[in-house]
Amino acid sequence: MAKILVNDGISAEGQEILEAAGHQLEMNKVEQDKLKDELKNYDAILVRSATKVRQEHIEAAPNLKLIGRGGVGLDNIDVAFAKSKGIAVMNTPAASSDSVAELALAHMFALARWLPDANVTMRKGEWNKKQYKGIELAGKTLLVAGFGRIGQSLARKCAALGMNVIGYDVIDVQTDFEFTKDLESALPKADFVSLHVPKLDKPLADGVFFGKMKDGSFLINCSRGGVVDEAALLEALDSGKLAGAGLDVYDAEPPQNAALIDHPRVSVTPHIGAQTSEAQDRVGRELAQLVVDFFADR
Ligand SMILES: NC(=O)c1ccc[n+]([C@@H]2O[C@H](COP(=O)([O-])OP(=O)(O)OC[C@H]3O[C@@H](n4cnc5c(N)ncnc54)[C@H](O)[C@@H]3O)[C@@H](O)[C@H]2O)c1
Repeated sequence: MAKILVNDGISAEGQEILEAAGHQLEMNKVEQDKLKDELKNYDAILVRSATKVRQEHIEAAPNLKLIGRGGVGLDNIDVAFAKSKGIAVMNTPAASSDSVAELALAHMFALARWLPDANVTMRKGEWNKKQYKGIELAGKTLLVAGFGRIGQSLARKCAALGMNVIGYDVIDVQTDFEFTKDLESALPKADFVSLHVPKLDKPLADGVFFGKMKDGSFLINCSRGGVVDEAALLEALDSGKLAGAGLDVYDAEPPQNAALIDHPRVSVTPHIGAQTSEAQDRVGRELAQLVVDFFADR
């Protein structure tokens, strides 16, 4: 039976599945700077996005056999190095797709109807009914950049609302939606652009990207910090090129960019894309089952 460090929490059901299979769990979080010393005592570590499992931690953990990541992106784990040491890396990529897609949609609705600013001003005692003339999502065009699990989930929801959806990706995607690999020609058509790409080496949405977007359009980023050039975004908002932006992820988390966060035409959430009961339950259950199957096969 394995000794498992569960460092960023797991759902109650996930915990039950692991314990029922006889595994010994440590649920108390080991702080990042102590991880190198502690990890040598475990056969497996389970994380979400908070804990980073880097080469230095893996090198210092001779008993480690498995790194489990609840969720999608593996950018907090040195995957190639782990694999080179024969350590398995597993995640639950599909468990939170609908939750993230719903958050992107929530930002779209929020921006279309001025909800962030209306919340702030009403709480100050103001009644700015005339200022908040919005738009309907129905009939508008959404460009989904990164047409994978989350992007396609958002596409289905937006199509049901009467939006025209264009999928964009760098790979060929089989889909019934309008699909293109030509970003340049798609950007000027979209009223909303929602980003669902992995973490990239350089921003996809930079000054050039914003320049090609339709005047008065909206940008949503529920993918990863760094996918958007925050300085260029602020410029595009201030110049009126963009009508608004919805952000769940940031260059630095928590973000340091007050001008962007406080902007009246920006809707912000603190990286909560997968933070729903349903997603957390699915993540915990799927991850626990992967771990149980992994150690059962050894
Ligand atoms: N906000 C949150 O809390 C949260 C939660 C879960 C996932 N995410 C993020 O959402 C993103 C998408 O997740 P997913 O499960 O849909 O991933 P996915 O792998 O299913 O889809 C990503 C798609 O992006 C495409 N892509 C890669 N580089 C591209 C580029 N430069 N331009 C256009 N397309 C590109 C890939 O080909 C792929 O089809 C990831 O960054 C993930 O980390 C965020």
